[in-house]
Amino acid sequence: MRLVYLLITFLVTINLGCVTSSCLWWDKESPKLEHTHFKTIDSTQTHALKILAEKSLDPSCVHLFTADEQTAGIGSGSRRWESPKGNLYATFVFPWSMEYIMLAPLVPQIAALSVCETLEKFGLRPQLKWVNDILLGGNKSGGVLCQFESDAMLVGIGINVNTDDRVAAEGLAASTDDPMRIPFGSMKIASRGTEFPIDEVLEILKTQLTRNLAQLIAKKGFVSFYPRVDTRLAYKGKWVMYTEDCKGSISRKIKVLGINESGHLKFEEVDGTKKEACFGRICPTEE
Ligand code: BTN
Repeated sequence: MRLVYLLITFLVTINLGCVTSSCLWWDKESPKLEHTHFKTIDSTQTHALKILAEKSLDPSCVHLFTADEQTAGIGSGSRRWESPKGNLYATFVFPWSMEYIMLAPLVPQIAALSVCETLEKFGLRPQLKWVNDILLGGNKSGGVLCQFESDAMLVGIGINVNTDDRVAAEGLAASTDDPMRIPFGSMKIASRGTEFPIDEVLEILKTQLTRNLAQLIAKKGFVSFYPRVDTRLAYKGKWVMYTEDCKGSISRKIKVLGINESGHLKFEEVDGTKKEACFGRICPTEE
């Protein structure tokens, strides 16, 4: 009897330890990451959503789905994300407590920063196009698609690693329905032909992203990220087109001034008034 009592006490203690703090991924130095890789898939994002609908997540563990190629890759605004072999396609699933729901709007920008920091480890000089695009030499070379689903944050990341000029041009041609589109680039194009190992890019991205999101939760805000994003911000002091609608059909000219400590874009209107935006998209002007 005493033995049964001791056993129950032991099991309850272990369990309580898990739901309090020690088993939450963001409290761990290097959280467990369950990685599933596909040669071909429709979309790692769609797959992650399916898995989420089927089972409840272990909050101590981050899930990662990657693929060599996607046949129906999804970009932001439900646009298509061209996904031929040679690039990185990943969807991370971070268990996310409702307690931290107010941090969710900051995740796309933190994820884009994590991609920039990853590319810098390969000697590249990426810029962050507010709010979550990654540029190399002014060309879109990576994008982030975040979705919050009840108790999980999905972070979909596409990085053009070894796409060459022809494939980049095809990607641009395929996005003519987007008036805010910009030319595509890649790590290979930016480095004039060097091929990069996708698995090494992913390894660094895993560390950067997990560490940055854990820091976001620990610090409960954007303030500590502000200088890291602001120094990498594209088009500072330049006139760009800004749109508030996801289709980009109505846009106006603004001058980018920077971001503030909440991650909002600081800008100037043509009449000189200074404003801030917490959502929207920008793209370079023609001239
Ligand atoms: C954007 O439009 O800028 C966001 C692109 C996000 C693409 C990634 S690739 C991995 C994941 N799976 C998808 O179908 N989309 C995201």
